[in-house]
Amino acid sequence: MATSFTRLTRALPRSIHAPRKALSRGLTGLDASKLQVTPTTTPSDIPSPETLVFGHQFSDHMAAVEWTADEGWQTPRILPYQNLSLDPASSVLHYAFECFEGMKAYVGTKKELRLFRPDRNMKRFNDSCSRLCLPTFDGKNLTEIIGRLVKIDKRFVPEQRGYSLYLRPTMISTQRTLGVGPPGSALLFVIACPVGPYYKSGFKAVSLEASTSDVRAWPGGVGDRKLGSNYAPSVKPSVEAAGRGFSQVLWLFGEEAYITEVGTMNLFFVFQSKETKEKEIVTPPLDGTILPGVTRDSILQLARTRFPDHKISERKFTMHEVKAAAEEGRLLEAFGAGTAVIVSPIKSISWKGETIDVPLQSGKEAGPVAEAMYRMITDIQYGDVEHEWGWKIPE
Ligand SMILES: Cc1ncc(COP(=O)(O)O)c(C=O)c1O
Repeated sequence: MATSFTRLTRALPRSIHAPRKALSRGLTGLDASKLQVTPTTTPSDIPSPETLVFGHQFSDHMAAVEWTADEGWQTPRILPYQNLSLDPASSVLHYAFECFEGMKAYVGTKKELRLFRPDRNMKRFNDSCSRLCLPTFDGKNLTEIIGRLVKIDKRFVPEQRGYSLYLRPTMISTQRTLGVGPPGSALLFVIACPVGPYYKSGFKAVSLEASTSDVRAWPGGVGDRKLGSNYAPSVKPSVEAAGRGFSQVLWLFGEEAYITEVGTMNLFFVFQSKETKEKEIVTPPLDGTILPGVTRDSILQLARTRFPDHKISERKFTMHEVKAAAEEGRLLEAFGAGTAVIVSPIKSISWKGETIDVPLQSGKEAGPVAEAMYRMITDIQYGDVEHEWGWKIPE
């Protein structure tokens, strides 16, 4: 199987020193119409839904396309899922020239295949690539290639509600040199794995530990880009928090203890104003330290129509504000938001040894805002509701 990439590896060393001007030169663009498909000759069994573990089982095929600074994007291909062959000097392995996306394909109510707001993932992917001097590409062409991959591996997209095919577009530098500089060659690939619903039997609210020592992202940093190098350092604090019985780390920033994100999710709180009694749905602003989540943006937009009596805010707020609101009975709800889970209700936050409880109605694991957002987003993803965000993969 590994032989299909022989051509890739031969092509890699061509641009050992990437000419800087190549990044802006008019080179061949990514062109989905040139897609070449090599189907697998050894199709694998479809994993049964109850055995699905996130990111463990993969579909039969992958998409791959190489780029060189001299020529631009090469022929895109769909191939049997296989190992990559990389020169050990490839700069991805030394300087973390890697970024990725996370999106899903769904089987709709009429058995049609669907994506959710793929344009947002393509934009964020391009923003991440550009931050690493990796090549950018035309998002519509990559969406088309992803659509073809999903169609070819259609039997891996589970049909049950709550299930989906998780898609992982990834770009790495294959530049074969140890000098730190802009990549002269790169590989874009997309792999796919069938995934089950995060909540198999209803929501389950989680407890967080607010980190007082580790910081996920900082002003002037790259927290707003989906770079692999943002994720590896977050694992140790998460493992340590898990050892103390907490599900996720709440990432704070600065002496003020600004709230930023939770685990690998954006974060929403619902407060009631002390003065006006008005309810407010609030999330931190995109100040460069926050990943611009597709779910975050969707919730902000949907909440404006679904909760017209609530104030919808993107503003900075601190743990002190959360603590005061909880003490005064004005903290109504808190939840994380991201593609994997959509919403993840929060039941408590531990901060400097104190526990702040987030109220939940008796017998309920999510508040009304989290529940409504979950329903509205899944209705669009599975095509129960026709919406401009639901993108049908052409037949
Ligand atoms: C750090 C971080 N924040 C937020 C999100 C949520 O983004 P999205 O809603 O696009 O999945 C993710 C997941 O991709 C993430 O990794």
